Amino acid sequence: MPELNLTSDYYTGEYPSLLWEMTICQSLGDGNGTFAKALQKPLAYGNLVGKFLLESTSLATDCEKIVEIGGGYGTLMAALLTVLQPQQVNMVDISPALLKEQQKHLKQFPISFHCQDIFNWLPSLKQQPVDLLILNEIIGDFPTITKLSKKALTRSLRQSQYAPLPNLSPASLNEKDLLAEAARLVETYDLDLNDLPETFNLNYGALIFIERLAKTKVARTFITEHGCDTTLPYPFSIFPAIQPLADRNPRQIQLKDHDEYNIRFDHMEQVAKSLNFKVNRFHLMDLINIRFDDEINYLLTSQKPVSEEQEIFLEFYEHVAEYQGIILEH
Ligand SMILES: C[S@@+](CC[C@H](N)C(=O)[O-])C[C@H]1O[C@@H](n2cnc3c(N)ncnc32)[C@H](O)[C@@H]1O
Repeated sequence: MPELNLTSDYYTGEYPSLLWEMTICQSLGDGNGTFAKALQKPLAYGNLVGKFLLESTSLATDCEKIVEIGGGYGTLMAALLTVLQPQQVNMVDISPALLKEQQKHLKQFPISFHCQDIFNWLPSLKQQPVDLLILNEIIGDFPTITKLSKKALTRSLRQSQYAPLPNLSPASLNEKDLLAEAARLVETYDLDLNDLPETFNLNYGALIFIERLAKTKVARTFITEHGCDTTLPYPFSIFPAIQPLADRNPRQIQLKDHDEYNIRFDHMEQVAKSLNFKVNRFHLMDLINIRFDDEINYLLTSQKPVSEEQEIFLEFYEHVAEYQGIILEH
């Protein structure tokens, strides 16, 4: 029977830590740090995100309202606010402990902080226009349906028609609901399951997040996460050593006291396009403008770092290789 992977108990606990995860945002938190030397132009991650959004969307520097969901230590927002000057900023996070960290890190900015689960908070955006919503490395934490069997799903598809469940928090679903919801998503959005094994995982939270986002007044949403269907941009695509595992079945990532699942971005794209979003899907290496020169070429070919810095670079390239992003506009 299907199960639901949840991370909310971990994040609402006393000491959630992001140090185990080495998020890209934290690795590139300091534009003068070692990881930033792997970029064509060393800059903090939030700064790069701001520039990317200004170049690739119609977002204005002096926009009205920005919201970040799951902002961790507040590192992205601190650097983003050196590029954008919005009238209003909200930080929404399920973790009281991490919200406190955000408050410390962002105390010089007039920001309002909300301790909320995104699935309970999103309906409040039905009335309020938002220029930019940010979800950086959080959708892997959203509920994932695991151990789904194709046979059970086909049976469920044959049995009846399903309406989407009301705006419930996914944590309240039982096994029967999970199967019904998986069947509904597969059928409504014609999700491709052909390349998956008989028992597979589905990024349920990420997909229903898009459905619920479509009912809000959010103009653009920026999302990044580890992908299970990531292909590297050229020239990185020619180095076997850093090719991400892309078997298209969301993979369990074991972290301190909780598990995340990486994301099947083509399913997200399919749902978003069906709901009339304009979709821009990209590789994170392109957003951060990762360096490629003779030193990096030799390093990725030889796999033999000759300094501590090169060792860090190699690990960083291998790590970034799996990340994708998607911007949804409507
Ligand atoms: C892996 S951390 C990423 C932190 C930061 N964005 C970064 O890139 O370093 C996930 C963040 O999302 C928050 N989070 C997880 N599930 C959430 C939910 N359902 N609603 C709101 N916040 C959530 C966590 O508390 C944490 O701040």
